[in-house]
Amino acid sequence: MNKLTVVVAVLAAALPLLLSAAEPVADAAAGKQVFQLRCAPCHGAGRGGDPGREMLPGTDALRIKYKGALPALLEQRSDLPEPVLRVYLRHGSWSMPAFRKTELSDVDIANIAAYLALSARSSAH
Ligand code: HEC
Repeated sequence: MNKLTVVVAVLAAALPLLLSAAEPVADAAAGKQVFQLRCAPCHGAGRGGDPGREMLPGTDALRIKYKGALPALLEQRSDLPEPVLRVYLRHGSWSMPAFRKTELSDVDIANIAAYLALSARSSAH
């Protein structure tokens, strides 16, 4: 074995370790599940969920806040990338309480951001 072969063999052996240390790719499908569990009870469309209410509280508050300038449904918003979403979720926003890392991990937030980006694209007309 010459030196080059040894170097190549060592690099090949280390490759999986290097890849696993890299930033994980956000998972929109996992983000959808977390969104439906943790966010949709307030930010969903509300149809059929609660017949006593026209809209859910998050959706209604954002409808009043933006008066149609932005969609009231988070799933139609394309302006909530992970760094923006993380600030809202870690600090709370007016009547929405903050989420602790034990309730919602950083990976959950990245996954939700990936899901919102995807759902906004498919709801754009
Ligand atoms: C208990 C109800 C509730 C839950 C659960 C909830 N929210 Fe909210 N959220 C609200 C309300 C109400 C507002 C509007 C606050 C205001 O008046 O500005 C809001 C605002 C926001 C905003 C700010 C948007 C803007 O443009 O001002 C973001 C982003 C957001 N929520 C994301 C989420 C995500 C993601 C989840 C799930 C992890 C979530 N929320 C869970 C009630 C909730």
